[in-house]
Amino acid sequence: MRIPALFAAIVALSACSGDAPPDETSADAGVLNVYSARHYDSDRLLYAAFEEETGIRVRVRETSAPQLLETMKAEGERSPADLVIASDAGALYRFQEAGLTQDSSSERLNEVIPERFRDPDGHWYGLAKRIRLIAYDPERVSPDQVDEYTDLADPALEGEVCIRSGSNIYNLSLMGELIERAGAEAASSWADAVVSNFARAPQGGDTAQIEAVAAGECSVALVNHYYWVRVATNASSDRRAIAEATALSFPSFGDAGTHVNVTGAAVAANAPNKEAAIAFIEFLTTPEGQRFLTMETKEFPLVEGVPLPEGLETLPAFEESDLQLTVLGARQSEAQSVFLNAGWD
Ligand code: FE2
Repeated sequence: MRIPALFAAIVALSACSGDAPPDETSADAGVLNVYSARHYDSDRLLYAAFEEETGIRVRVRETSAPQLLETMKAEGERSPADLVIASDAGALYRFQEAGLTQDSSSERLNEVIPERFRDPDGHWYGLAKRIRLIAYDPERVSPDQVDEYTDLADPALEGEVCIRSGSNIYNLSLMGELIERAGAEAASSWADAVVSNFARAPQGGDTAQIEAVAAGECSVALVNHYYWVRVATNASSDRRAIAEATALSFPSFGDAGTHVNVTGAAVAANAPNKEAAIAFIEFLTTPEGQRFLTMETKEFPLVEGVPLPEGLETLPAFEESDLQLTVLGARQSEAQSVFLNAGWD
């Protein structure tokens, strides 16, 4: 009896290890090529955890989303990319629009990712949430002056608004939602009025806007929540003082809630290893994957029941907009025109 059992064990072992050793020089079944627009140390832990769990090796190319888009276009059918990770549904839309993604629907993904945070045809899946809110100087502005996005156009805020460029994807996506909800004409008037409230020409990223409010250069700024949280939880007390000098408003579009966007993933159109790419996206929806994805970025986990990363527990409860995020891509070129016409460079 002992010999057949041992034999069975050997057969099982060799079945697991496959017929041939993996070839590291080609896009073999054991390697996943990730093109990522993220740049966080915690992503190393994420990849290592996936490698350990699946035995699939992860190779990563990290650069900006526009750069990845150009690279994939140039590589064409020979692209080694299996998967793209990028922030903002508007950025994911650009890959889809360029024909660089494919349907990667899976039962698990469709079950755990709410419909509004994914492409209905499975071309991209949102995995972590970010919200765009107003950071303001509570000594100069009252909460009811900034409880709606449209408040940024109020003449009472003349010379008080700091905000980044209109070509920035976060602003384009917010504008996409405004156009969807209020119409292009109202959105244009809003953009004109916000431009006349600028404290300075658009410059810098979201963190620079928070710093400008704290420095008194302006009293309101539009920023993604995680920039504020990273300043508020910084190891340096000088940095924390910047966040402490500001208050947060979770604005709404009328009664529609606060603008939500996502970091997400899309399987590449010519993925050499589509199965591994889907397995990786599914891994990102597990509690472990969600934790590694959000622990450093301070985004909100998208899958229900996953604990918040440190620092987010201090934010108040707020109502999320229920917008289907494919709208942000569909409205992107209109949003670009609105900013262009308003001189919001
Ligand atoms: Fe960002």
